[in-house]
Amino acid sequence: MKPLPGFRDFHPAECARRDYILATWREVARRYGFVEYDGPVLESMALYEKKSGGELVGQLFDFEDKGERRVALRPEMTPTLARMVAARERDFKKPLKWFCCPQFFRYEKPQRGRGREFYQFNADIIGETSAAADAELIALAIDTLRAFGLTENDFVVRVSTRAEWAAFLEKRGRAERMAEFLAVIDKIERSQPEELAKQLQPFGVSLEEVRMELSKPAEQWETGAALLEDLHARGLTSFIQFDPRIVRGLAYYTGFVFEIFDRGLSERALAGGGRYDSLLSLISDGRVDLPALGFGMGDVVLGNMIDDTPAAAAKRDAWLAANRAIDGYIIVAQEDRRGEALALVQQLRDAGQRVDFPLTSAKVGKQFQTAEQLGAAWTVLIGDEWPLVKCKTLATRAEMLLPPEELLAHLSPPEISD
Ligand code: HAM
Repeated sequence: MKPLPGFRDFHPAECARRDYILATWREVARRYGFVEYDGPVLESMALYEKKSGGELVGQLFDFEDKGERRVALRPEMTPTLARMVAARERDFKKPLKWFCCPQFFRYEKPQRGRGREFYQFNADIIGETSAAADAELIALAIDTLRAFGLTENDFVVRVSTRAEWAAFLEKRGRAERMAEFLAVIDKIERSQPEELAKQLQPFGVSLEEVRMELSKPAEQWETGAALLEDLHARGLTSFIQFDPRIVRGLAYYTGFVFEIFDRGLSERALAGGGRYDSLLSLISDGRVDLPALGFGMGDVVLGNMIDDTPAAAAKRDAWLAANRAIDGYIIVAQEDRRGEALALVQQLRDAGQRVDFPLTSAKVGKQFQTAEQLGAAWTVLIGDEWPLVKCKTLATRAEMLLPPEELLAHLSPPEISD
């Protein structure tokens, strides 16, 4: 029996790698003053049909529950977040800076970088219209990837705005066909010129006009200059590339949008997001009207990139080694001292030390071997020397005899990890 296609088992090694990603996401989000929230795993199907739009609706894991409700496993967070904020908007001081790291489900064709289940870091700012918020969000996305040991040589943030394309269509009297038009622009990188010209015809737009729009300098975009200036002050412009071909697949985006890719553009997007200033109003039937922006970053493409980038893989492996290791191992050299050994194990664990010991009798040499394998920094041997115990620092092989009650003072305090 294997897991279903696109689903992953997380044995301890994979679980630790996933936790490294989640712990790093949380650490950087908190550095930026974001607070964590969460929502239900199962939502009404209508939430996504009405609010996500695009390809996503065809990828839902949906079914009818026993109460005959049409429901779906969550494929993304944004509609849930909009609903949650709209429901209790008055309780929160604006702007809200919220993040979460949930697991999502999408019925996609499993392939490199895509599964039917994945974790996604979401960071959103609600209640702020300024380009300063756009820049803060992009800076968070960049610093998150930097925290994994990735640099501007490894990834690029491609920034664009739907507002420019909206104005472009409006000038041509085709504003109502925005969604279809954006679907054509979204595929521009993969389309042949003749094919593209044909697809643009129904919008009364020539390929030449689109090319002109694509070459317009970002400083002339509505918020381009302010965004660039802010990111320049943070020293982050080397990560940025303005690129109007990026329009995003989800229906709710209204303004600036961005996607992050590996420099070689050989992987799928690492992250994507943008402004969705109308979604809260849509979801609350006009009751709550708040501007919003955010992004999502998945664990699958990121995990592949960490694997393929030596500096990032080394950083992860150092974290894994530090987190997997126990602090110490109790060697039970005489079985008739097992009671004293258990008392000591209990006392050390109560003090916060990560301690292991043999559950059944084993040769002393074997026990030392186990201690090394578990990454213990020290061992405490209980045997002939009782009422003294022999404490050994494994790295230096230095040993000392001491009474058990002095042990805690002798051992370094346990490391607190997230
Ligand atoms: P999205 O572009 O659908 O945006 O997903 C964002 C990221 O999640 C992708 O760039 C990718 O890394 C990851 N991802 C998406 N689908 C899969 C999959 N099937 N397997 C593995 N990874 C995947 C959103 O979801 C928006 N709700 C983000 C957002 C938040 N916008 C505003 N706030």
